[in-house]
Amino acid sequence: MKTERLSYSQLGRAAELLLGGNLVAFPTETVYGLGACISNEEAIRSIFEVKGRPSDNPLIVHVGTLEQVEELAIEIPPIFYTLASHFFPGPLTVILGRHNKVPAIVSAGLQTVAVRIPFHPIARELILLTGGALVAPSANLSGKPSSTEVGHVLEDFDGKISAVVDGGKTEWGVESTVVSLLEGKVVLLRPGAISLEEIEAVIGGSVEVAQEKDCGLSPGMRYRHYAPCAPMKLFFSKEELVLYWKEKELQGKGMVLSQSVIPIEESHELSVKNFYSQLRLADRKGLEEILVLCDEEVRKDLTLMNRIMRASRSE
Ligand code: TXA
Ligand code: MG
Repeated sequence: MKTERLSYSQLGRAAELLLGGNLVAFPTETVYGLGACISNEEAIRSIFEVKGRPSDNPLIVHVGTLEQVEELAIEIPPIFYTLASHFFPGPLTVILGRHNKVPAIVSAGLQTVAVRIPFHPIARELILLTGGALVAPSANLSGKPSSTEVGHVLEDFDGKISAVVDGGKTEWGVESTVVSLLEGKVVLLRPGAISLEEIEAVIGGSVEVAQEKDCGLSPGMRYRHYAPCAPMKLFFSKEELVLYWKEKELQGKGMVLSQSVIPIEESHELSVKNFYSQLRLADRKGLEEILVLCDEEVRKDLTLMNRIMRASRSE
C-alpha cells in the first residue's frame, strides 16, 4: 500500500479515507495519532494489528464537543464539567463509564471509555469532516517512542497505513494527561502535558496518583514504552555520567540527555517536548547507549521522569 502524505488543504481526502474504513495518521497538539472512525470495527481492529498493540490495551476516542462526550459516556460526574471548562479542548483525557454505543474493542473490553477533545485544528477539522468520533492511539509501533513529526510516523508505518496528514512538529511533544473520573474521584493514570498541580488547582483538592501496582486501571501502564533500541542508562550526578562516558569511550557511539551543561559534545537538551525525537534520533544514528542525567530539577518533573523510567526499563 502506498501511504499518501497529505497537507492541511487535503483534509477532505483524509476524511474520505477514514470514512472508507482506512487508517490515517494525523497531528494533535500532543503527538500524532493513528486514527480510525469509531463506527468501523474492522478498521479499529487493524489499528491493533498495524501497531502490534496488545489487544488488552484500550484506545482513546477523540471528539469535538461535550455533547459527543455525553453520547459516548454514562454516569458523567459533575467534576467532569469543571475539568472540561478549563482544559477542553486540550491535552487532557478522561476515563468515564462506557455507553454501550462504544464498540467493546475500543475499550479492550473494559466498562469504561477514554475520551478527549483535542485542540489541534487538523484533528478538530477531521473530526468534523468525518461527522463522528475518531479512535486514535499514538502513531508509533507498540513500545516505540511516540511520533512528534510526520517523519516519525513514516519511519514506523510507511506502506502500512493509507495516509498521514502533515502538521509539522507537535506543540507538546508528549501525550495527554489521563485521569480517571470513575465514582467522581479524580485519579491520575498517566502524567502528561497537563501537570498534576494544574489539575489540583482547578478542582481545589488533591489528585490521587495511581501506582504501578494498580495497572489494571490503565492497561497501558503495564508495558515497556517509548523505548529506543539503544539501552538507556540513568545517572544522578554529572561527575558519574562523565566518568562513565570516558571509561566506556562512548564518543561517536553514545548520546547524553541533560538539562545542565555537560562537557561532552554529543549532549542534547533533556525536555518533555524533545524527549521522543531525541530517542528516535539515537535510533536513526544506531547509537549504542543513551545516558540521561536525572538531576534534582528533572526528578521533580513527574511527566518527564515517567517517560524516562518507562523508556529505560529493560522489559
Ligand atoms: O495525547 C494523547 O493522548 C495521544 C493523542 C494521539 O491523542 N494518544 C495516546 O494514545 O497517547 P495511546 O493509545 O498511545 O495511549 C492511551 C493510554 C494508554 O495508556 C491506555 O491504556 C489508556 O490511555 N487508556 C485508554 N482507554 C482507557 C480506559 N478505558 N481505561 C484506562 N486507561 C485507558
Ligand atoms: Mg502510545
